[in-house]
Amino acid sequence: KKVILSGIQPSGDLTIGNYLGAIKNWVSLQDDYDSYYCVVDLHALTVRQNPAELRARTLKNIAIYLASGLDPAKNTIFIQSHVPAHSEAAWLLNCFCYMGELSRMTQFKDKSQKVGESVSAGLFTYPVLMAADILLYNTDLVPVGSDQKQHIELARDLAIRFNNLYSPTFKVPDAYIGNVGARIMDLQEPQKKMSKSSENPNSYILIMDPPDVIRKKISRAVTDDIGVVRFSEEQPGISNLISILGAITGEKPQEIEKKYEGIGYAQFKSDVAEAIVEELSPVQEKVKQLLEDKPYMESVYKNGAEKASYVANKTLRKMQKKLGLIPR
Ligand code: TYM
Repeated sequence: KKVILSGIQPSGDLTIGNYLGAIKNWVSLQDDYDSYYCVVDLHALTVRQNPAELRARTLKNIAIYLASGLDPAKNTIFIQSHVPAHSEAAWLLNCFCYMGELSRMTQFKDKSQKVGESVSAGLFTYPVLMAADILLYNTDLVPVGSDQKQHIELARDLAIRFNNLYSPTFKVPDAYIGNVGARIMDLQEPQKKMSKSSENPNSYILIMDPPDVIRKKISRAVTDDIGVVRFSEEQPGISNLISILGAITGEKPQEIEKKYEGIGYAQFKSDVAEAIVEELSPVQEKVKQLLEDKPYMESVYKNGAEKASYVANKTLRKMQKKLGLIPR
């Protein structure tokens, strides 16, 4: 079986961008691949976190993975910091990555602008840790939203570089980006990607937002005065709502346009809101149940870390040996 790995940072509450761009695709891939899904808590530390909140969000992310339909019997679900090989491999790969490459990462450029003076070295080398996450598992495919494409390119470059300098060690991974939902936009500024770190809560929908909050946020979503439900560049707000609806129902944008010929934005928005509510309600219910079942949650992530460590350590040992480190 081919191998998949992906992860989400517990740096904020997850949005429908994370759900439609990543998690929903993971669920659809789980029967055909050997899959590893982690909560990348070490990546979240690249910006200041409140410890209690970080703990709560890490567990909540695990619960969301499970509640969305990832079966722990078919997938290895774990917490990144529970598999120390990630940190160790990241150091080794750091020694093969150029400052210039990291300076060109658009996510770094965006985030470092936001935090101003206090750009940590961790924020800069973040993509190298992500490369370690991916390369340790001989990953074939990395299912992500389109914003992560550049990071996966870097992981590929590092794999190829290491393989050429030593001998074939890593599989060179490919990004897997879904056709729909790969880039859900901000509801208030639809030129920007929807982000869990946005300051305006009206700009995103959280996976855990209650139904009336979802309805309110969708009804307030920025549209235009063209008045036609059409998927086009001049209508970024409406196009985004079409993407969201399509990612949920599986309909193509053209099918949605057709269905809403002659129908106004108010009705369209209300249908989008109901589709989201219907999709998320069962997930929310399940998350609440799971968070109350601590022993079960613990058994999932402990078991996951054990399985992941076995594979990750094998790759790490290979790297260490090739580099000239004395076996332990
Ligand atoms: P993160 O935590 O920012 O986002 C997690 C996943 O959600 C996707 N995503 C979106 N998709 C569509 N529309 C959006 N508005 C949207 N916002 C986020 C992201 O593309 C991603 O798939 N560096 C990664 C985490 C990571 C990782 C990895 C991913 C660490 N190691 C190894 C894959 C493999 C990140 O910051 O994702």
